[in-house]
Amino acid sequence: MVSEKSRIYFDGKHYDAWTEREIDIPFYKKQVKKYGEPVLELGCGTGRITIPIARDGHKIIGLDLSEKLLKRAKEKSKKDDLNIDWIIGDMRDFSLDKRFNLIFIPFNTIHHILTLEDMEKVLENVKEHLEPNGRFMVELFNPDLDILNRDPKEEHEVLEYKNPDGDEEIKVTETTDYEKAKQLMHLTWFYELDDEMVEREWTIRVWFPKEVNAILKYNGFKIEKKYGDFDESTFTNNSGQQIIVCEKRQR
Ligand SMILES: C[S@@+](CC[C@H](N)C(=O)[O-])C[C@H]1O[C@@H](n2cnc3c(N)ncnc32)[C@H](O)[C@@H]1O
Repeated sequence: MVSEKSRIYFDGKHYDAWTEREIDIPFYKKQVKKYGEPVLELGCGTGRITIPIARDGHKIIGLDLSEKLLKRAKEKSKKDDLNIDWIIGDMRDFSLDKRFNLIFIPFNTIHHILTLEDMEKVLENVKEHLEPNGRFMVELFNPDLDILNRDPKEEHEVLEYKNPDGDEEIKVTETTDYEKAKQLMHLTWFYELDDEMVEREWTIRVWFPKEVNAILKYNGFKIEKKYGDFDESTFTNNSGQQIIVCEKRQR
């Protein structure tokens, strides 16, 4: 049986179970120490990164589109007695009466932004909310041509995680269909539960390295560093990620 699309992605418990990765958390904690606070995380989800930063005693705000994921974030921070502002909003259109020393968009979230126009709206909002010497960090994947060229009919393994509402391991597989002219990747994730198959379809925008650099430049940012991994190694051909630190260009 195939049920309601996207239900699992927007269920905070499932989200936390499948994103149980920790590799990026020490990296972002280190950046906060380096660049200062207050901090704004755009697309904070269930607070996977926001909460550890707040636990270190830093002032941080998390903004996200999903009410369900923010509800989970709130529950978790309340349990830890942390004072975090969780804001429901769209990174393309938000206005907070505050400026930040660090604004970051981690974990490939910017790939949810599908057009140049929307990307420019995000960057305009970031600039408006950044202190003059503040930093903006954005993390993207480095497009892998083998993945972009896949046969859309082929199913590929993605991950496995323990069902937070049961005992079984949930296996996730995907199909991908890359639309070259628009640089859009259409994905379907199949979640194999004991008694049902949940299907989630969504589209992400593929942003190539030099394209991202140019968009940042022509939207008023100066790239200070471009890492290829969370160990702060320089971005190269073989890097899996594009992790960019930039500041506003002074006019
Ligand atoms: C890959 S998750 C990352 C969540 C969290 N930062 C983490 O690292 O676990 C992407 C998040 O971005 C949010 N999102 C997508 N588009 C958004 C938008 N336009 N404005 C705000 N949040 C958005 C989704 O609701 C989701 O929580």
